[in-house]
Amino acid sequence: SSVLRSVKTLAKPAGARGYSSESVPDRKVAVLGAAGGIGQPLALLMKLNPLVSRLALYDIANTPGVAADVGHINTRSEVAGYMGNDQLGQALEDSDVVIIPAGVPRKPGMTRDDLFNINAGIVKDLCSAIAKYCPNAIVNMISNPVNSTVPIAAEVFKKAGTYNEKKLFGVTTLDVVRAKTFYAGKANVNVAEVNVPVVGGHAGITILPLFSQATPKANLADEDIKALTKRTQDGGTEVVEAKAGKGSATLSMAYAGAIFADACLKGLNGVPDVVECSFVQSTVTELPFFASKGLNGVPDVVECSFVQSTVTELPFFASKVRLGKNGVEEVLGLGPLSDFEQEGLEKLKPELKASIEKGVKFANA
Ligand code: NAD
Ligand code: LMR
Repeated sequence: SSVLRSVKTLAKPAGARGYSSESVPDRKVAVLGAAGGIGQPLALLMKLNPLVSRLALYDIANTPGVAADVGHINTRSEVAGYMGNDQLGQALEDSDVVIIPAGVPRKPGMTRDDLFNINAGIVKDLCSAIAKYCPNAIVNMISNPVNSTVPIAAEVFKKAGTYNEKKLFGVTTLDVVRAKTFYAGKANVNVAEVNVPVVGGHAGITILPLFSQATPKANLADEDIKALTKRTQDGGTEVVEAKAGKGSATLSMAYAGAIFADACLKGLNGVPDVVECSFVQSTVTELPFFASKGLNGVPDVVECSFVQSTVTELPFFASKVRLGKNGVEEVLGLGPLSDFEQEGLEKLKPELKASIEKGVKFANA
């Protein structure tokens, strides 16, 4: 949608740098890992976004070519390429949004957690630089394993004294994109109208699509819901296997990353009611779920204390988030869950908890 709108701006007569609106604030977006499989198409899509006025493309190699190429596109943003650690500070300075797809992707047979050893260090270093050069920026973490890299980022920022939980996001938009596509196909509804929240985390069973809340409504059989859930959870692996050693999702991820960054920019610019799913620091995510249990007559006091410990047990959780001028405006509750989803929620908690703790431990080692 916004990408299409952006494409339309290509046809408009050019003002300064092809953009004339004075009401759109200046916004700098930095992409770290910009010469990679995700980074390149993401750079392209961000160049098409009229909300961006400056686009900084950073990588450890090959950014001059990507920046020169993307920079010839006649849209609003000024593009600059930065290569190597010496130029990282310049790339980050004044950034409003930093998108991080830097790191190695999976090969067939690997889990996302198998990427931890390499990507954790990359993310830690990049986040140290963010803390130094643009501590107020919104960070969109794409690098896997997201369930651990987001907690790593949080710890790095905490140590630097710059942590703002409202500005750190694990990008789970691709799970939503997949759930929408698969649901539309099965329910035979217009994909452009489909909405499906996806909660939990971003790996295997921690990805929990809530098809019971999908719209437009369709009376799918339980087996269909199970199959759709499994396909959404295994969506990344489906692409990894199809690419047969040549990496993981890049094009659909670039699309998803561009949608999420656009939502962050809209929020910053004061557009109301911008809601996307994302993996964020979460304090109240599960409260509505447990509260509704209480409302339904579960009177046990032990249940009440379980609510508290569960909330602190999973300090990060993906759910619907309202975005605004300060980043997260509100972490929305999970809403009513089907028995199948409730079961999935209980099952995902230990894995998600372990991945979060692994990230925290690494960052503090
Ligand atoms: P890629 O190998 O094609 O590109 C990664 C880029 O990162 C390369 O250009 C590399 O030079 C760069 N890089 C490495 N170390 C760097 C550093 N220290 N600073 C800056 N750049 C650095 O990989 P890809 O396919 O683009 O995937 C990137 C990451 O995104 C992987 O970890 C992958 O698992 C993850 N991913 C996440 C999602 C999601 O939904 N969140 C989806 C797809 C892929
Ligand atoms: C995805 O969901 O496509 C990404 O997390 C990449 C992967 O390794 O599956």
